Amino acid sequence: MILGISGSPRNMATEHILGMALKMLEEKGYETELFAMRGKNISPCRHCDYCLKNKECIVKDDMYQLYPLIREAEGFVLATPVYNGSMSAQMKIAIDRTRATLAAEPRSLRRKPGMAIAIGGDRMGGQELAVQQIHTFYILNGMIPVSGGFFGANLGATFWSHDTLEEAEKDEEGFRSLRKTTRRFAETMEWLKKIEK
Ligand SMILES: Cc1cc2nc3c(=O)[nH]c(=O)nc-3n(C[C@H](O)[C@H](O)[C@H](O)COP(=O)(O)O)c2cc1C
Repeated sequence: MILGISGSPRNMATEHILGMALKMLEEKGYETELFAMRGKNISPCRHCDYCLKNKECIVKDDMYQLYPLIREAEGFVLATPVYNGSMSAQMKIAIDRTRATLAAEPRSLRRKPGMAIAIGGDRMGGQELAVQQIHTFYILNGMIPVSGGFFGANLGATFWSHDTLEEAEKDEEGFRSLRKTTRRFAETMEWLKKIEK
């Protein structure tokens, strides 16, 4: 299963485009699941280190809906709106709270492909940095960050929403980066299957 996580607090461009990315992957034969941070009660990591001893998070909130999906996922698509030039707080909280599942199984994300989607209201509002922040999480965990490829050189999928879903849907360059990145993501999944045989 490929897990998509939307870091937007609303059902607008980020969640919609993530849904489209997952649909593209379904068309390539993958099972997918979309988890939205929207409407969830998920607090920031407290750094209490309870998880290091007890291998689970002390904060029993909606993150417990996400933990089993993270454990099951063979690949990840993290999608964030751009807030103040970087990823949203919601996306960051989801990432930080993985500490508990990683405390239980430190190598559980290793070798899993991950792609990033960033959607900003401005054309160059920080999408690239937001993508790189997501990639940093992937790198820290030994995952394989997937880009859109060297020709065109996009690091991930980036969209210009003008703050509306309608405008995001018209962003042809954004869709081009999304198609390229999902294609490379699927290629990476297949390559991994081959070398793991
Ligand atoms: C608190 C806040 C900060 C924002 N900062 C930026 C920014 O730095 N750069 C940018 O391009 N867009 C910024 N935006 C606009 C959002 O990235 C844009 O509206 C995006 O489409 C929101 O995603 P959504 O449609 O999924 O809600 C900001 C929006 C909010 C609410």
